[in-house]
Amino acid sequence: MKVLVTGGTGYIGSHTIVELLDNNYDVVCIDNFINSKPEVLDKIKEITGKEITFYEGDVCDKQILRQIFTDNNIDAVIHFAGLKAVGESVRVPLKYYRNNIDSTLSLLEVMGEYNCKKLVFSSSATVYGKPKSLPIKEDFPLSTTNPYGATKLMIENILRDIYVSDKDWSIAVLRYFNPIGAHSSGLIGENPNDIPNNLMPYIIKVATGEYQKLNIFGNDYDTVDGTGVRDYIHVVDLALGHLKALEKIDKDNGIDFYNLGTGHGFSVLELVNTFSKVNKVDVPYEICDRRPGDIDACYADPSYAKEKLNWQAEKNIEDMCRDSYNFVNRK
Ligand code: WQD
Repeated sequence: MKVLVTGGTGYIGSHTIVELLDNNYDVVCIDNFINSKPEVLDKIKEITGKEITFYEGDVCDKQILRQIFTDNNIDAVIHFAGLKAVGESVRVPLKYYRNNIDSTLSLLEVMGEYNCKKLVFSSSATVYGKPKSLPIKEDFPLSTTNPYGATKLMIENILRDIYVSDKDWSIAVLRYFNPIGAHSSGLIGENPNDIPNNLMPYIIKVATGEYQKLNIFGNDYDTVDGTGVRDYIHVVDLALGHLKALEKIDKDNGIDFYNLGTGHGFSVLELVNTFSKVNKVDVPYEICDRRPGDIDACYADPSYAKEKLNWQAEKNIEDMCRDSYNFVNRK
């Protein structure tokens, strides 16, 4: 089976390509390196010993997409490409709407032209907004509080409408919780091109001494210790969830939505303390004001993905902390 992976040199994309290659899929990838580095391609080759067909370009560009589909008999697409910094999306919303929506519309139009109607889409738990209760199930109300989340929800609705208009489509929408960790080789991991938005990359920069301390955004939430609770999931577990989704869309038509989380919530302080213990390294921190838009707690009910995809996360929080640090501190 030949799979086109958009945004495949990014954090989750690169880990998914490794698992695809290890499971004998043929992989074609398009990426413009807006939030990744070309050397990731060499690392993928070093880990798997296999080549992929790579096109440097923007998924908004229908010409290059048509070239890809002309050159390759694509059976299915995994669509990761997109901007994903919540804070930046509030500052420059049009950049997010133009990039994330435009690229997806271009991709879907060209897929239709080439009669390729199997898609796995990278969505996010952010589409649940502030959940009415916990754990979160796929049929919970959907609402977003920032332009990044709004693009994900808009694309989910576009995909619903496409399926209603043409029942030949087979679409799996994967709602990620909080991906952290790295491949056990330490050769690929979360390596953003700019200042980290997310917690784990920030913890790592403090642990390596690049930053002096971690700012913990608030300790007055309604949680076990007052700091924010999230469902952290190992990026390799997440990658394997994409392979299960591919199997599903290859078998059945339709559109469905799946939570990819562990079902367990950990607070910021619990994550920091686990990271320090596992890696025997200090992570100095200071409690600061809440970050606007943050919610108290968010974690998944992952039972639907277990039932329908026969997928569940296997790695624990200690694995995630160890592998995250090993990526930057490889022995
Ligand atoms: C986690 C917790 C912060 C940084 C976002 C997106 C989501 C997905 C994952 C793309 C929160 C606290 C963080 C720091 C801190 N991305 N924190 N100090 O906000 O849960 O989710 O990233 O799909 O869509 O919304 O992740 O890692 O930013 O924050 O105290 O320097 O860590 O308050 O409680 P978040 P995060």
